Amino acid sequence: MSHFNIIKLDAISSTNEFLKKKCKSSECKDGEIIWAKDQTNGRGQSRNKWLSQRGKSLTFSVYKEFDQLRTSNSFVLNACIALSIVNVLKKIGLNEVSIKWPNDIMAENKKIGGILIENIVKSEYIKSSIIGIGLNINEDKFVNLSYATSLFLEINKKIKLEKILDILIEELFKSFNQLNNRENYIMNLFSSFLWKLNKDVHFKNKDHYFTAKVKGVKLSGNLIIELSDGSISDFNSNEIKMNYID
Ligand code: BTN
Repeated sequence: MSHFNIIKLDAISSTNEFLKKKCKSSECKDGEIIWAKDQTNGRGQSRNKWLSQRGKSLTFSVYKEFDQLRTSNSFVLNACIALSIVNVLKKIGLNEVSIKWPNDIMAENKKIGGILIENIVKSEYIKSSIIGIGLNINEDKFVNLSYATSLFLEINKKIKLEKILDILIEELFKSFNQLNNRENYIMNLFSSFLWKLNKDVHFKNKDHYFTAKVKGVKLSGNLIIELSDGSISDFNSNEIKMNYID
C-alpha cells in the first residue's frame, strides 16, 4: 500500500471537480490524492467528457503545490506527467507507448489515457495544480469509441488498479523534483516519445486540413512541424489539432 495520502471514493462526478471544490471550501494538503472507482461526469480536455468504466478505469487527481514553478514552464509540468505515465506503462509491459501532442497517451494508434491539469496561478507562478489522470486499464471493450484502447486489450493481462496507482504516484512525485532544473532534458525526452515523430500527419487548423511532419515540441509547448514545402513552423494547441487517421 502506498505511503501517500489517498482518499478513495466509491463514485463522484469528477475527481478534479471534487478537489477544486475542496480546495475552495477548506484546506487541501500538498500531495493529497483523490481516487474514484467511478466517475459519473468525468471531464476531458477542451470541454470533452471523459468516459470511464466502473472499477476498470483508473481515474484520480493529485493536488500538488509548487515553490518556484513559472507559468512559462506550465508545459514542462504537462510533459513531466505524460512521461511518468509512459514510464509506468512501459514498466508494466506495454511496448508501443507514445504521447500524442499535446497530452494524449497512446498505445500504438489508440488512446489509452489522458491528462487534465488545472493550475492555480499567482502572478507569474503556478502555486499549485490539480492534476487529473484517466487511464484505461482493465476494459475489455469500448462501445462507439474506435480510437480507445486499454492496457488489458494491449497486453492481455488484468492488473489491479491499485498497483498501477501506487507505481504511478511514486513516479509522479519523483518527476516533480526535476521540474525546476531539468526543463530541457524533460522536453527533449518528451519530444522523443511523440506519437508519429518524423512522420506525416494530418492536421486541422481553423478552416482547412493539411499534412506536415512532426518534428518536436518547444519549451512553450508549441508543436514544431515541417510543412510540405520544407519550411519549419510551430503552433500551439489552439491553433492546430492533430488527427488520428493517417
Ligand atoms: C483528456 O484526454 O481529455 C483528459 C482526460 C482526463 C481524465 C481525468 S480522470 C480523473 C480526472 N477527473 C476528471 O474529471 N478528469 C480527469
